[in-house]
Amino acid sequence: MLARIGGLLAGFAWLSAAAVPPLRLGAPAPDWTVQSVAGNKAPLSRCLRDHKRDTVLLAPRPGQWIPRPDLEAAARRLGELGVDLLVIPPQPEPGRPGLEPIAPATVLVDSGGVVRRIEPGRLLAGKELEEFAGQWRLGREVFLSACARCHGDDGSLEICGDVKPLTGIGNRLTPAQIYERMRVGELGHDDVLVRGRFHKRKEIEAVVVFVRGL
Ligand code: HEC
Repeated sequence: MLARIGGLLAGFAWLSAAAVPPLRLGAPAPDWTVQSVAGNKAPLSRCLRDHKRDTVLLAPRPGQWIPRPDLEAAARRLGELGVDLLVIPPQPEPGRPGLEPIAPATVLVDSGGVVRRIEPGRLLAGKELEEFAGQWRLGREVFLSACARCHGDDGSLEICGDVKPLTGIGNRLTPAQIYERMRVGELGHDDVLVRGRFHKRKEIEAVVVFVRGL
């Protein structure tokens, strides 16, 4: 009996040692070793400190190769939006914390190093990659002009216990659930009403993306 309990405990110890913290929206990104499009390696924290720009990270799975011209083209297009592009190459143990279970993956971190958007299982390219960063940035503009007066710039405000902080909401609610709780009034194909303000539907889709990353 005791031996069985001992075995169970050993099993748990093994589990906790193997458990890598999952990548969480709204939380600081691990300090991965990243590679620039030109091939230079550095810690992510240093790139963010030097450039102070929102950054898209491509994490290929082991053996997956992104052609250099594709990377250069993507970096140029994202650069026009004011966004940097970096690659997180596969690494030997301990690997890429939080990423191994979801790689290949595309991740957006803001200029302060907080994870704002995650696309697990896919390396985005072309138009989709631009949308990935552009939609979140449009969402931020909309949020600051239409939502921050009640929720605060970073979504953390709690007014009279009525407004709950939005921080970390993307880890517990799906985009559809967030949309539902925003109490969107449907006006037409392209137009909606949220808390007394008119919006284009694509602005509200973008704000859902932004809110998930708070
Ligand atoms: C006039 C103040 C006000 C404005 C402006 C406002 N909200 Fe809210 N929001 C609230 C209140 C109050 C609640 C909680 C109770 C409720 O649903 O009415 C809430 C709830 C939410 C929730 C649900 C939170 C949860 O944990 O269930 C989300 C998501 C949300 N708001 C997003 C937004 C977004 C995005 C915008 C901008 C487009 C926005 N809100 C604009 C007051 C506001």
